[in-house]
Amino acid sequence: DESLDTVLVEFDDERGVGTLTMNRPDALNALNGQLRDDIIAGLEALEARNEDDEGVALRAVVLEGAGEKAFCAGADIGGFSDESAGGSSTRSHYDVIRDFPAPVIAKIDGYCLGGGLETALACDFRLASEGSTFGFPEVNLGILPGAGGVQYVSKLASPAVAKELAMTGEHISAARADEEGIVNHVYPDDEFEDEVDAFVTDLAGQAPLAIQGIKKSADMAVHSGLEEGLEYDYQLFKRLLETEDHAEGAAAFAEDREPEFEGK
Ligand code: HXC
Repeated sequence: DESLDTVLVEFDDERGVGTLTMNRPDALNALNGQLRDDIIAGLEALEARNEDDEGVALRAVVLEGAGEKAFCAGADIGGFSDESAGGSSTRSHYDVIRDFPAPVIAKIDGYCLGGGLETALACDFRLASEGSTFGFPEVNLGILPGAGGVQYVSKLASPAVAKELAMTGEHISAARADEEGIVNHVYPDDEFEDEVDAFVTDLAGQAPLAIQGIKKSADMAVHSGLEEGLEYDYQLFKRLLETEDHAEGAAAFAEDREPEFEGK
């Protein structure tokens, strides 16, 4: 395990699960340039684990916020004009999460606002505790969510919901976010840790090449036409049929046992 200035990095090599903790709890984990850079560096450090032979290679990443109150309260209001979309890197942390070769799960416990909500929207899954709240307060600052928040919420929920959040700046509850399809699951606060852990363990046990391909396929459903998406899925399907993991999955089914996937 290692730590960057503003992100704690942990790796569980039994499950192949990495955890990145945004660690500016006194500022509700607001995104400054350092935190953006450290999220990228943390993801790169976890990805490099794939080349390791010890333990299970990286299968999934959990992104969470330190402290009791927030996942992330958005861009750091102290200084976001100097860093418009990203920190000092050329690719934003949003891009790096979206393109990451393993699923990234936003574990949301508390405020998830502005650029913090956009960070969660760049992740593959959003799992929230009951007490969490969501919103786009940017309009109160005379701006709009700059990293695709309105686009994402329009697609996940509806343009009307995106407009409501982004034009009013009001916070909504986890229950409402769930109803609108903005989060995958909401769990009671006292079951949150265990439920997230179970979700992540299941995900990490699935065949890695299939998971990577499905991530790309779902992204294509958002940004390409149906024909192109169908062709991608069919070509991927044919490639996956040739993998050792497919043979292992079929054998495990026939032998009535749990499969052990290796990403080959
Ligand atoms: C910097 C922040 C912060 C932020 C909270 N803090 N949000 N610092 N940037 N975004 C700090 C507070 O200043 C305070 O520091 C400490 O965290 C605790 O916050 P409080 O306000 O005291 O807590 P509370 O009363 O519980 O209110 C919580 C809150 C409120 C409702 C989340 O903090 C809030 O509204 N924050 C701003 C949310 C926001 O507007 N985010 C930016 C959206 S713009 P001290 O030192 O006083 O203890 C965005 C996109 C920008 O994200 C795009 C740029 C490209």
